[in-house]
Amino acid sequence: MFHVSDHHGDFSSRTRCVWVTGPVIVGAGPSGLAVAACLKEQGVPCVVLERADCIASLWQKRTYDRLKLHLPKKFCQLPKLPFPEDFPEYPSKKQFISYLENYAKKFDINPQFNESVQSAKYDETCGLWRVRTTSTTTGSSATASNRAEVEYICQWLVVATGENAENVVPEIEGLSHEFAGQIIHACEYKSGEDYRGKRVLVVGCGNSGMELSLDLCNHNAFPSMVVRSSVHILPREIFGRSTFELAVMLMTWLPLWLVDKLLLIMAWLVFGSMSNYGIQRPSMGPLTLKNTQGKTPVLDIGALERIKSGDIKVVPAIKRFFKGAVQFVNGEVLEIDSVVLATGYRSNVPSWLQETEFFSKNGFPKTPFPNAWKGKSGLYAVGFTRRGLSGAASDATKIAEDIGKMWKEETKQKKTTKACHRRCISQF
Ligand SMILES: Cc1cc2nc3c(=O)[nH]c(=O)nc-3n(C[C@H](O)[C@H](O)[C@H](O)COP(=O)(O)OP(=O)(O)OC[C@H]3O[C@@H](n4cnc5c(N)ncnc54)[C@H](O)[C@@H]3O)c2cc1C
Ligand SMILES: NC(=O)c1ccc[n+]([C@@H]2O[C@H](COP(=O)([O-])OP(=O)(O)OC[C@H]3O[C@@H](n4cnc5c(N)ncnc54)[C@H](OP(=O)(O)O)[C@@H]3O)[C@@H](O)[C@H]2O)c1
Repeated sequence: MFHVSDHHGDFSSRTRCVWVTGPVIVGAGPSGLAVAACLKEQGVPCVVLERADCIASLWQKRTYDRLKLHLPKKFCQLPKLPFPEDFPEYPSKKQFISYLENYAKKFDINPQFNESVQSAKYDETCGLWRVRTTSTTTGSSATASNRAEVEYICQWLVVATGENAENVVPEIEGLSHEFAGQIIHACEYKSGEDYRGKRVLVVGCGNSGMELSLDLCNHNAFPSMVVRSSVHILPREIFGRSTFELAVMLMTWLPLWLVDKLLLIMAWLVFGSMSNYGIQRPSMGPLTLKNTQGKTPVLDIGALERIKSGDIKVVPAIKRFFKGAVQFVNGEVLEIDSVVLATGYRSNVPSWLQETEFFSKNGFPKTPFPNAWKGKSGLYAVGFTRRGLSGAASDATKIAEDIGKMWKEETKQKKTTKACHRRCISQF
């Protein structure tokens, strides 16, 4: 990449303009790192922009201490670097972060940290993307120069900001003004240590809600978990084998609806009926639900046992909060000390990407898997197929191959192209 010019655009302060010869990747999570590594192998340089001050900020800053990968490691590794052999089947968060740090080091990926992308727009006139960032550095160390905004100009834009970029925080009557106890989102929760002896309402029963409730129990807190609709809970392992792996294997032979039926029979054999504990299953099977609505089944690592024993109390949807208490839709009132909102996450793509053909309003590509990785005019998306890390790895490989092919063509006509781009930039 090289610096082109300083100019005053519609940004409030000085904007630096940078021409990038390869793609710009937005996000240095596992997806962005995977694309950068695969591009490196193709000899394509790139710029990775990251709003946080580290790689994999979701994992480093927005997850709890006890977190482990919930799929076997072979389904979570990024392209071109397997997990170390001595890692357990389900690596811990710490191990996963160390793997990612090694990954970035091995492929010499050096993201531009503390740069948050504010907008990205395709300039039809020049056939180039204009990506604007502001510095996220705060505090006294932020000098006038490192606060400056930057405009990156590039031919290819890779969106790698993740399915979980922002927290979902529901508005519930009385929560912000009357309740008066501690309220956090699951992404701020680190450990149950701070909640010892406290009555905690966990709102949401996805993988986060279940695992935080379990962690609270393990620290002698008293969790109540809100289950407002239905949820599929599957054991993480069935007959000593990963349920996910079993499902993947069955899907190569059998139709989805039949695999769903088999999974539910196996879950019933392991758990028995869950309706006695206030948990209803959706009418659609777990894999069909995941494919059609993106709703992830819970892979249980022990919470269900604590629900059965009464250590985790299951409660219905919330009506409203009062000072130190919550009322549910069935009229029951429960006194509580704290609230943890395990209410999920959302994509932030619509807030910065000025494009509506490939991405929909919910921040996910409109085309389903396996065609959700490539848009028009050099736009790509990685990690938006609700298939976790294995989905991201597969997108990354395809994106790098695609850009790699064009890169080779482009470098053949390098002289002509460069001259043309320079002419375009001078018009900005
Ligand atoms: C608690 C939790 C546990 C999970 N466990 C698993 C698991 O075990 N297995 C699995 O396969 N998946 C799991 N997932 C799913 C998870 O989404 C993936 O593992 C993985 O983190 C996705 O990588 P990503 O790079 O696409 O997104 P992220 O890891 O979210 O990375 C996106 C990056 O983009 C940056 N960014 C966002 N917006 C901007 C912007 N405007 N400008 C610049 N940078 C920006 C973010 O700061 C972030 O660093 C889990 C998710 C959560 C929340
Ligand atoms: N160990 C792991 O690897 C691990 C751990 C945690 C998370 N994850 C992953 O991280 C991603 C996010 O999981 P998540 O559990 O944080 O989010 P999620 O799966 O989106 O679950 C959100 C939960 O919040 C509930 N909810 C939302 N608004 C509510 C409201 N106003 N009142 C009551 N309930 C409300 C939802 O209920 P409804 O269903 O009724 O909408 C749902 O139960 C998933 O991909 C998950 O697999 C993985």
